Order: sequence, then structure tokens, then C-alpha cells
Amino acid sequence: MKATARAPANIAFIKYWGKQDEKLRLPLNASFSMNLSGAFTTTTVEFSKKYTQDIIEFVSARHAELVSASKKVYRSRNEFGMIVARDEKFSLEEKNRIIKHLDLIRAKAGISAMAKVFTQNSFPKGAGAAASASGFAALTMAAATALGLALSEKELTMLARIGSGSACRSIPDGFVMWEKGTGSESSYAYSLYPSDYWDLRDVLVIVASEMKKFLSTEGMSYVQSSPFLQSRLRRIPEKINRIQELFSRKDFPALGELIEKECLNMHAVMMTQAPPIFYWMTETLKLIHAVYEWRAQGLPVYFTIDAGPNVHLICEAKDEQKVIEKVKQLGIAKEIVVNMPADGTKIIEEHLF
Ligand code: DP6
Repeated sequence: MKATARAPANIAFIKYWGKQDEKLRLPLNASFSMNLSGAFTTTTVEFSKKYTQDIIEFVSARHAELVSASKKVYRSRNEFGMIVARDEKFSLEEKNRIIKHLDLIRAKAGISAMAKVFTQNSFPKGAGAAASASGFAALTMAAATALGLALSEKELTMLARIGSGSACRSIPDGFVMWEKGTGSESSYAYSLYPSDYWDLRDVLVIVASEMKKFLSTEGMSYVQSSPFLQSRLRRIPEKINRIQELFSRKDFPALGELIEKECLNMHAVMMTQAPPIFYWMTETLKLIHAVYEWRAQGLPVYFTIDAGPNVHLICEAKDEQKVIEKVKQLGIAKEIVVNMPADGTKIIEEHLF
């Protein structure tokens, strides 16, 4: 009755912002993402009669330990080059959201036993590094496995989606499409290309690790108030077709342009909602300007930003070191996490308790 799963965070190239159904977390549009090798969540779930209530704890981790546990490269250092340890906690609201998800999985298995859940992140929670995606993907697979539920990958993505929309994209391998769908059964995620299809990099620049004021769930609940929403949604099918075409012929500059435009389009919607949400900080804008300058100097690097101030710099593997050097020279990074395209959520043998 115990299982541990490790799930990657993902970075969306075509973004999800807004729901057609809040309860089922059905999105207003399809989205497309890349799983991240360096930003992941590990979760152990045990169901047992010995627990009188659900116990949900955040385990603080030293990155060094995570490195040894990880098959893929993981690098994260603060500005002094030191490995960083973190001590984070779940809020009551987060615990309740996790318990609600456990209830859903318990109902599927027809059991009522309480659970102990330990979870560990390799990156700051709630800073736009998609902690809810890897968190709910790991929780879904660990809990379903602990209860012996025989679910297909597609079914797991639909279940993870109900915990957090973007979590469904962290289940399949590599580069992942999430179908908008018209109901719970038709809104699922699948791998479009495996992780070794294209050697891209996401150099995640963490400029702030405080919790953001507007979590994405709350933030996107006001999406209908933006006068730009409808024009955004009209263009999405065209963008989804275009990204598939660019992937099939590995056209990096055109992909970068598309990723950047799509990010700015989503943030324009966020900023014009009522109340407006401005996730960027001074450092975010500094990085945006720097990227334009680096490109003008001949370095092919593009940015994308989720619901937080941190910036994902997308480049090809051959330019990774140059991008890291440029970021270091700017002197605004609290941490840099270098991500390769990664596989999806997997069951692992090393339990957290
Ligand atoms: C900006 O998946 O965190 O990162 O479904 O309410 O849990 P909920 O939202 P969440 O939203 C992610 C929004 C985004 C864009 C994206 O990842 O596609």
C-alpha cells in the first residue's frame, strides 16, 4: 500500500490559461509543453488503517541528495556556487486540495484508509516553476499505484488533470500535447515526441523564490474579464498546428519566436484581467531585454514565463554554456536550473519514509 513517484515539472510552449469547467479542470484551449529534467517532485504515499487522518508533509531536501537520486543531470547553485537547502511547508489550503485529490483516488479504488504523504521538490514551490504540475502528477501516480489501480497512461493524465490542469502534461514522456476536449474523457495528454527527439535546453533563471500572490488557479478564474481573451483563443488552433509543424522540421528560430509571442500573449491577458495580474518583477524585465540584446549579438535564445517572475530561457544544447555565462554576468539570478527534455512521471523504489 506504499508507492513513490517522481514527476518532472513542465514548461508550456503553448500555454493553458483559463478553464471551461473549474471542477473538472477542463481547459479553454489545448496546450503543449516540454518536461524538465532538473525541476521535479518526489512523492511517497502510503495508505494504511494505522493512520487516523491524512498526514501530509513537505520534506526539505538538499539538492546534493536529489542529484544522487536522479538519473538525469541536475544542477542548481546559488550565486556563491553553493548547493541550496530549502525548508518549505504546505499551507492549509494546499493540504485540503491534496486531501480532495486523495479522496477522488480513494473513491476510484473503493477504500477509505487514510494516507501518509511525503513530498519533496527540487525547486522553489509557487514561484512559477510549475510546482503544482509535478506535485499533482507525482501524487496521482504514487497514490494510484499504492492502491493497485490499473490505470492506462491516458487515464492517469485525466486523473492528474483534476488535481491541477498542467499536471496532466507531466505524466507522458518528453514533449507533450494536452487536448482541450469537450468533457473529462476527451481532455487528456499524450507524448508527441520522446525526450531525446530534440536536444533543447530550458535554462530556468530563478529571480525570486517567494510565494506568488496569485496562484494560477485563482488567477485564471478571472480570465473572462480580459478583453483580449477571445482574440487569444481564436489564434490557439493555428499556433498548435504551427508548433507541430516546427517540431517536425526542428526549426529552432521559428519555434523560439512562436514561444516568445505566445508567452507575451498570455501575459497580456493576465495583465488586462480584472483585477490585473502582473507576475513580472524588475529582474524579469531585465532578462527580457537582455535576451533581445543577446539575440541581436547572434545568440539564438528565447524566453518564456509562467505564472511567476522567473524566466525560462530556451536554447539548443550547443548554446547552453553561452546562455549560462550571459545570465551569470547579469548578476540577477538567485539560482539557475539547467533543464534537458525529460521523461514523464515514473515509479521509483527509493521511498521518502
Ligand atoms: C501559466 O495548472 O497551475 O503555468 O489547473 O488551476 O492547477 P490549475 O492551474 P495550473 O496552471 C498553469 C498555468 C501556466 C501555463 C501552463 O503551464 O500551461
